Amino acid sequence: MYIRMDVLCRRMSHALDVIEREILGVSEHHSMRIAALCAALGRKLGFSDNALSALTTCALFHDNALTEYILSEKPNDDQQRNVRVHCELGERNVKCLPFKEDVSGFVLYHHEKSNGTGPFGKKEGDYPFEAALISMVDMLDVARPFHRLSAAELPDLRRRVAGMAGNAAPREAVDALLEALNEEMLLSLQDERIENTIAEAVPVWNVADDDPAIIGIASVIARIIDYKSVFTRKHTVQIANRTWVMSGRYGFDEVTKTKLYLAAALHDIGKTATPTEILEKPGQLTREEFQVIKQHVHDTYDWLHDIPGLEDICRWASSHHEKLDGNGYPFGKKADEQDFNSRLLACLDIYQAVREERPYHPARTHDEAMEILSQVAKKGQIDGEIVEDIGAAMNCYTNKDIPAPSVATDI
Ligand SMILES: [Fe+2]
Ligand SMILES: [Fe+2]
Ligand SMILES: [Fe+2]
Ligand SMILES: [Fe+2]
Repeated sequence: MYIRMDVLCRRMSHALDVIEREILGVSEHHSMRIAALCAALGRKLGFSDNALSALTTCALFHDNALTEYILSEKPNDDQQRNVRVHCELGERNVKCLPFKEDVSGFVLYHHEKSNGTGPFGKKEGDYPFEAALISMVDMLDVARPFHRLSAAELPDLRRRVAGMAGNAAPREAVDALLEALNEEMLLSLQDERIENTIAEAVPVWNVADDDPAIIGIASVIARIIDYKSVFTRKHTVQIANRTWVMSGRYGFDEVTKTKLYLAAALHDIGKTATPTEILEKPGQLTREEFQVIKQHVHDTYDWLHDIPGLEDICRWASSHHEKLDGNGYPFGKKADEQDFNSRLLACLDIYQAVREERPYHPARTHDEAMEILSQVAKKGQIDGEIVEDIGAAMNCYTNKDIPAPSVATDI
């Protein structure tokens, strides 16, 4: 079986855009627009299918590390240094994706300018042309988002683009953009059709579900989701690693282990749309706020359910708040509708959450966590046998030393 990596990357990029919109105030679908424009330019310039995939995917993820950088590093007064750090972290992450082309420098140099005034001081020709394409459309979209431009503003935009040749962007890139810019292009960048625009412009990208590269993809996904909030900084990564341990214990085959790891990485992808003030609220949530929190699993389902090859993964990921007595969410599934891996993720989600420090509770020890899980199992809400297995398997690990798959520990 294959997973449609191009569709998964677009959904991940959407999650990233949602986070950046909340934290940085960038306009919605910014990365998607950069990707759609780069795809159009790549086609005009005669890129091969693989080159087009690589360019578009790097454009989708050009700012993948912006939130990681903001939440983990302390930005200082040196603006160029700040920009360099998110470029370096982003390059590291994107290299974990299984490209068929060498993408070195595409994300690292996405703020460079032809005249050498970018954060790394590289001049045109000293960094990849693909990075120059991303940089050019990024600068324009940040200054004035393309989807907000009317046809009447096109002449002014064309003048600005023409003025970039040789100083902000290579002439070849500027010429391709001038050729591509028209009313149809502006229409194709509107929010409601942006994903279709990219889908039509780039080739299908399949990755076999037993490809070890999936683990690398999953760890990048987990990292992006976790950086949404300081309180959930390691939640996804640690659940994914705990899933890996349990898969080994149960003797799952490589495909199931890999898919389960990816499901764990994706289970809270919908939380990227949950307002941080609710995620980080100290104390009791109001009924309305809890309704907002519950929305995250609906989003996880909505964003994943139509991705070819992701059917099992979506089911496992979006069932982690279901309860065996039918009182869970999002769908109120009963016990006979929840397969083993869905139950496993539901148990591990509770276990991991109570072992973490949250605004409303301290981090519990393994024994305390097992006491809580046993109570929930006794109420008939989660699988008691799986709880016992978790008790035996997790006994020896703290949050910090859960074994991770080798490829995931490289970053
Ligand atoms: Fe950037
Ligand atoms: Fe950007
Ligand atoms: Fe959740
Ligand atoms: Fe979770």
